[in-house]
Amino acid sequence: MAHHKSSQGQWSSRWAFFFAAAASAVGLGNIWKFPYITGENGGAAFVLVYIGCILIMGLPLMMAEIALGRRAGRNPIQATRAVAVESCRSPRWQIIGILGVLTGFLVLSYYSVIAGWSLDYILKGLMGAFNGANSEEISTLFNDFIGNPWSLSFWHTVTILSVIFTTASGVQKGIERVVYFMFPAMLIILLGLVVYATQTGAFMQGLTFLFAPDFSKLTMDSVLLAMGQAFFSLSLAQGAMLAYGAYLPVRVSIAKTAILIALADTFIALLAGVAIFPIVFANDLPITAGPSLIFETLPIAFGKMPFGQVFSVLFFIMLFFAAFTSAIALIEGVVAWANERLNISRRMAAFAAGGLIWLLGFIAVFSFNIGSDVTVFGKNGFEFIDYLTADIMMPLSGFLVAIFVGWMIDKDVIKKELGIKNPLYHKAWFFTVRYLSPIAIAAVGIDLLFF
Ligand code: PHE
Repeated sequence: MAHHKSSQGQWSSRWAFFFAAAASAVGLGNIWKFPYITGENGGAAFVLVYIGCILIMGLPLMMAEIALGRRAGRNPIQATRAVAVESCRSPRWQIIGILGVLTGFLVLSYYSVIAGWSLDYILKGLMGAFNGANSEEISTLFNDFIGNPWSLSFWHTVTILSVIFTTASGVQKGIERVVYFMFPAMLIILLGLVVYATQTGAFMQGLTFLFAPDFSKLTMDSVLLAMGQAFFSLSLAQGAMLAYGAYLPVRVSIAKTAILIALADTFIALLAGVAIFPIVFANDLPITAGPSLIFETLPIAFGKMPFGQVFSVLFFIMLFFAAFTSAIALIEGVVAWANERLNISRRMAAFAAGGLIWLLGFIAVFSFNIGSDVTVFGKNGFEFIDYLTADIMMPLSGFLVAIFVGWMIDKDVIKKELGIKNPLYHKAWFFTVRYLSPIAIAAVGIDLLFF
């Protein structure tokens, strides 16, 4: 099969792809989730397990996904189908693409709601809502906010509309423009926050927590969590890397670029920890606050600190930029598929997919307020979608990608696509995808199902 040029267009350069993919990887997962799960799971010990998961599963599978996308130059569903057929395998392997696109669709429905929280918190910061507030007041602020379906719906709508407009503008005019602005801006703000954190007096305490391992707090559940987080954070198993890979010019080395993306993603997650933990420690606040760490704990700290108001606004702007550049990656697979398969324009596809995701998002919106009693298997709507996607669909899709690339498709095709020059490194990659990744995912999956 000769390379097929995607009808969505191509990235204008290797860097455009790097920015888009790295910006997709860096998101709520890095800034919101990574610090709080690290806080709950023993700090550095968890970080080590997480890095292990990136090496054994995350990075090798990311290379595989990008390579599959580029090989076919089509949307995730047709790409996986075309590559399977090329290697004389059943077209049913497109299940990988279907699963990915579906997962991206479901994830975006709640992701957009939480991205919307950061927009509201930018305003709260601007209005000085955190200034001098104590923990009860900040808690009330947060609970009143998520308890109000109107405000959540409003910000969810704003986010989805922005995603639709960006996506409708195309790969170069939409996605590239946004990531070229938002990704560096996010990074600069984050670095500014790290400098700010060094001034808190608890900087060393934060660093120790993040980098000195305490293995006693590590459980099997932490390992599960680390694996899920590795998939989520690298934007795997959600159609995004498959879709972005399809726009990658042939001359770019997938292996090198993927390593850079994984490094950037991990580095930025750690940096978020370096920025957040000292601020939390310096104000004697609990590090194990869980999901509310950045919406309830941090604002208390900002409210007490010099220049706290400025930094609170910057923090939530950064969070929104990180989330937004992920949201546009989550919708890309569906949009490309609708455009290429259903023969509707990219613009129409963006509106249709965005509209459906917007509707679905009300499950997450209502699960924080009027619908919080509605549960499936003891989980509210948001928790259920999170569970279904992160604990079931993503590992399953990761497992299938490993089997497909490691066992099913033509070895030479994938070798050429990846472009790893050193044969030893290529062998190491192949061995990992063929054996280590599927065994590790299966082991964790079995543990999850039966224990
Ligand atoms: N990687 C993003 C994060 O860490 C989430 C994401 C998943 C974005 C899949 C795009 C695709 O928040």
